Amino acid sequence: MPDFQAILETIYQNALQAPDKGTVATYIPELAHISQDNFGIHLRTSDGKSYGVGHFNKPFSIQSISKVLALSKAMSLIGESIWKRIDVEPSGHPFNQLALLEIENGIPRNPFINSGAIVIADILLSNLKHPKSDFLNYVRDLTNDNTIEYNEAVAHSEKMTGFKNYAAANLLKSFKNLENPVDDVLDFYFHQCSLEMTCGQLTKTFSFLANQGTCMLNKTRLSESQVKRINALMLTCGFYDEAGEFAFEVGLPGKSGVGGGIVALLPHHFTIATWAPGLNKKGNSKLGMLALEAFTSQTKLSIF
Ligand code: DON
Repeated sequence: MPDFQAILETIYQNALQAPDKGTVATYIPELAHISQDNFGIHLRTSDGKSYGVGHFNKPFSIQSISKVLALSKAMSLIGESIWKRIDVEPSGHPFNQLALLEIENGIPRNPFINSGAIVIADILLSNLKHPKSDFLNYVRDLTNDNTIEYNEAVAHSEKMTGFKNYAAANLLKSFKNLENPVDDVLDFYFHQCSLEMTCGQLTKTFSFLANQGTCMLNKTRLSESQVKRINALMLTCGFYDEAGEFAFEVGLPGKSGVGGGIVALLPHHFTIATWAPGLNKKGNSKLGMLALEAFTSQTKLSIF
């Protein structure tokens, strides 16, 4: 068994030496105050051991990482019929690009670009009695942690400035790919994205995807086939127009968020989460990608 704690500490120190630490996202004003000096990594193995370095216990805005959790809830509610409304192909374009959506008649390329995640939010709105609290409870249950919360200030900040998401939702509505009113769907979507978690919580939340659908409470959340599909989508679409690069460098299914978080996993083995708010030009955490590349290269633990 490798000495994971020592490996994480070396990777952490090396990544801190990187000359370019990226840029904190400012298009959601509330995220602009977060210090670029935050950096944490947490690893949780499927046999129950955990290892952390840096700010792995500090909560941050998980943003698009939440799209995986929303998709998994939608799959557990309506199964395969999701794929009548959303495709499963990488987009090769940024997460908020709208051109393809118009060309492809309101069918988003995948559930992780914003337009796809907005359709998933619509599905949850149509199928949950109390969408915001039911979804929050789902995430708390997956993690076995009732302290997880939405950040109302972040949700409000995005609501005031999320013009492209309003454009996406209106375009979806014009193609009849939204059942609920645009404002209701986006209110849910902005809350979903505002969820705050630590790296240590994220490795717990995502462990059901490394463990064939079984969550921290030992409950089965999804079938093995559904887990396979979500992991495949994370590998091919989890990093938008940098999904190829992430597969090439890191070689794990994963998902990023503009809050600077990344979560990745090796089925049957581990989940790993990083947080460093400085982003590269594609909107993915600069130090997070460096650290994960170093981790899978040094340990030779990747799906390839
Ligand atoms: O909709 C948005 O733009 C944000 N709430 C989430 C975007 C995001 O995290 C993209 N990921 N890297």
